[in-house]
This record gives sequence, structure tokens and C-alpha cells, in this order.
Amino acid sequence: MPPRASLTQQPRTQSLGDVAQQARTSSHDVAKAQKQQPRTRSSNEVATSLRESRQLSETVTGGVDRNSLPKTRRSKTICLNVPDCQGDADGGAGPLAASVGKAEPSAVPVEKKRSGFDLFRWFEEYTCGSHVCRSSNIGGGSEKLNISGQAAIDDFILYNTVGVGACGRVMLAKWKSAGAKSEPLAVKMLRKHDVVQQKFAERVKVERQILSMCSSPFIVSLTCAFEDARRLYLVMEYANGGDLFGQISQKGKLSNNDARFYAAEVSLAFEHIHRLNIVYRDLKPENLLLDFEGHIKVTDFGFAKVVADSTWTLCGTPDYLAPETIQYRGHGRGVDWWALGVLVFEMIAGSTPFADDNPMIIYQKVLAGRVSFTKQFDLKAKDIIKRLLKKDAKKRVGCCEAGPEDYKSHDWNGGLDWERLSKRRIKPPFFPGVAKDNTSLYEKYPESLEGSAPVVGDNSVFEGFSTSA
Ligand SMILES: Nc1ncnc2c1ncn2[C@@H]1O[C@H](COP(=O)(O)OP(=O)(O)O)[C@@H](O)[C@H]1O
Ligand SMILES: [Mg+2]
Repeated sequence: MPPRASLTQQPRTQSLGDVAQQARTSSHDVAKAQKQQPRTRSSNEVATSLRESRQLSETVTGGVDRNSLPKTRRSKTICLNVPDCQGDADGGAGPLAASVGKAEPSAVPVEKKRSGFDLFRWFEEYTCGSHVCRSSNIGGGSEKLNISGQAAIDDFILYNTVGVGACGRVMLAKWKSAGAKSEPLAVKMLRKHDVVQQKFAERVKVERQILSMCSSPFIVSLTCAFEDARRLYLVMEYANGGDLFGQISQKGKLSNNDARFYAAEVSLAFEHIHRLNIVYRDLKPENLLLDFEGHIKVTDFGFAKVVADSTWTLCGTPDYLAPETIQYRGHGRGVDWWALGVLVFEMIAGSTPFADDNPMIIYQKVLAGRVSFTKQFDLKAKDIIKRLLKKDAKKRVGCCEAGPEDYKSHDWNGGLDWERLSKRRIKPPFFPGVAKDNTSLYEKYPESLEGSAPVVGDNSVFEGFSTSA
């Protein structure tokens, strides 16, 4: 898919330091930023970068056409865990809320303040998920652990990489025993060493558990999970149609009808997981894959969580974070409906409603809650987006008493046959038209750049990850 190739030429990642640095830089504090950042950037560069940020932020109000700029994959997911400021310890204002709109944090948790807590050091330390390919030499070190019944990586024929993530990569694979003509699979391989370093062990186990719990035509299904001394492996069905991000960046923006179709399939996936008390928390086009017929397959449950009521961990992708997440007010399934509003906007406009290169400015915009619509939005689309982007989660479509029914019965979805949709009987807008094991609709990634992954000392943190094949 040629237009996608150009994406690899974009600056895909920033270092964690850069993000923390950006967090330090308030949009209206250029002079201060100039003083604070002499190490890495000249004052002119800082000012230029801020100006560019502002220019980009004008696009939703019609100032600059963001779509004339190359679309870059959001390489950043964030995950901030502050166990001891959960609940009301910080008076309801979270660590990010404290910094949004201020150059220095002031409303940080009291006990953290007393001990000289530095919000930005903390932000730097805990921000994770820069999607840098750390690469893995799959050939090296696949010693099987003694867990009965589990598969091993040697049981698979591995083909090429279709995605890279924070701790490893996803590769097309097939069971050796079933042969090269068998059903293709996607193997997500995570380096244990990186998982431990990024404090992701619990998260990866939860990802495996949640994938095992899900059973929806719009969510990738898990075949099995296993581990060896160096890596964790999640074996899933392979979606050959690329991701929705590819569709949006190739076409610039989607039609109202196409956006409605994809959003509807995502809403059915949400209906399924919310019934299981699972909150997804990382909706974005990059995590929405298309299967061989073009139907949505939600992947990447790395931030999903079983939540009875509320949770506080700050995680997700900046453009898609709900205000209650940013403000650390405790969040639940409402964040997924908020993110659906952002997604509908992004599909129709080609950019997110609160877009900016500086995450702190994104958070300011989210909290300000102003969404500007361009001409391509029809009245019904505007209305559903406004209802999904309600700051008060209790009034948000999907979160009120009627649950997902409010979303389904909204005029924007008028005429949509939900029964047929739920059975995958409505023809998707895009038909991949490639063999089931074809990888051409994904970006190309370099294979195996470095030596084998290190063995981790304490394997007990991964107990419970593996399942039988
Ligand atoms: N089941 C799958 N079929 C095809 N490609 C996949 C599948 N799962 C993931 N990928 C590709 O791998 C990328 C990274 O996987 P993901 O689970 O999102 O990892 P991370 O948690 O690191 O973001 C995805 O964006 C997608 O391109
Ligand atoms: Mg992902």
C-alpha cells in the first residue's frame, strides 16, 4: 500500500525525555521554556516548535489545514501509575490536571509534595510505550519453560513483522504441524526483560486474561499464550486488512457513511466488553484492524482492565484521553465512549478534535472541551460527536441508563440494521482483496536487528500468563 510507506519516513517516535520535556513546556511560557531547555534545543527552536504546535492546533478551527500535513502514526501511549495517590489523596485533582495550564505543578498529592515530588521527573519515569522497535532475534534463546501443555515458538513458521510495540513485535505465523497452507496467525512477542523494566508484567497478564474472556466477531480472538525464558507470546487470529489508521491516512478522511460503519462495529465490540466489566482504554485507529472481509477487529488489550466501578491509572493515547482520566477523577467505561467520539471526529475530519504536537496542549484543549467542526460534518454527525464528547461522563452517550442503546438509536445511525451488522452481514466500505496471509497492507519493518533477548532473573511475575495450546 504505497501511501502507507511514507509513514515510515515520518518521525515516528519521541524519546520519553522529549515528552517529559514537552510536559514542562507550557504553551504560554516560551521564555521559561527557553531557559529550561538549553541542553537540547536552542531558544529559537523551542519557540518555533511552540509556534508550530499552535498552528497545528488552529486546524480544527479552520486556521491551517491539518490534512495538508503528512499524517503521523501516534507512536505514544502513556501509562502513569501512582498507587499512593489513588482515590482522593490529591483532592481530586490528578497529577496531569495539576500541570495542565501551569508551568509548575501545584496540586500534586500532598505527601508527594512534602517529599519533594517532582511531577515531571515522575512523568518521565512512568511514561511508557514509545513504540520503538527494540527488535528481537527470534532465533535466539527460545528455551521452553517447564509449563505443561504449552506451545513453543519452534512450533510455528514465522513470516514477517506486521507491527512493533513497546516491548516487542507482532509477526505473521502458522503452525508448523498444519503446514504453510494453514490459517494465518499473528504472534505478539514481548521481551520479558523490557516488560519487567517498563513495569508491564501485570498488564501483560491482564491482556492475556481479557483476550481469553472476549468472544466477539469484532475483537481478535486469542488462540493460546505461552512463554519461554526470554519472551511472552500471544497467538491471535491474523487480520490481513491492515489497520484503520492506514485507511484514514490513505484517503485523508472517510465519508460519513464509512465512519458510521466502522464506529458501529467498534460500538458492538464495546458493548461486548463493557458487559464483562472490561474497559478498553486505548481506542485509536492504529488498534483497529480490518479482517479479510474488511470488518473491524479490535486488537491490543494492553491497557484494558476489568473495572467494577472506577479506576485511576492514567493510560491511553493523549489525543484520545477523556477529561476524567486527565483530571484523575476516577474513570470507567465512559472513557471508551469518549474515545469513540474522538474516533468518529478523526475519521470524518482526518485529524483528532484536540490535536497538537504537545500533549500538554492536547490536555488543555480536552479540558476546555471546545470542538470545532468543519463543513464536512453533517448535523447528525456533529450531534453524536457532541454527545460522545460530553465532559460529564454520566451524561455521555453510552453511559446513561439506556447504555449503548442511546448510541445505537441516535439519528446518525438511523437506518442501520444492527442485527445484520452484529452478524457481519453488512458489506464493509473497504475490501482488502489480498490473500489471508498477505502482509502488504501493513507497514514494512526491519526484521531481527539485534541479539537475543536477555533472560529475566525472577520469572514468578509472569506466573499465570501461559495457557495450553
Ligand atoms: N491480530 C493481528 N493481526 C495483524 N496485525 C496485528 C495483530 N495484532 C497486532 N497487529 C499489528 O501489530 C501492531 C502492534 O500490536 P499491539 O497489540 O497494538 O501492540 P502494542 O501494545 O505494542 O501497541 C498493531 O498496531 C498491528 O499493526
Ligand atoms: Mg497498539
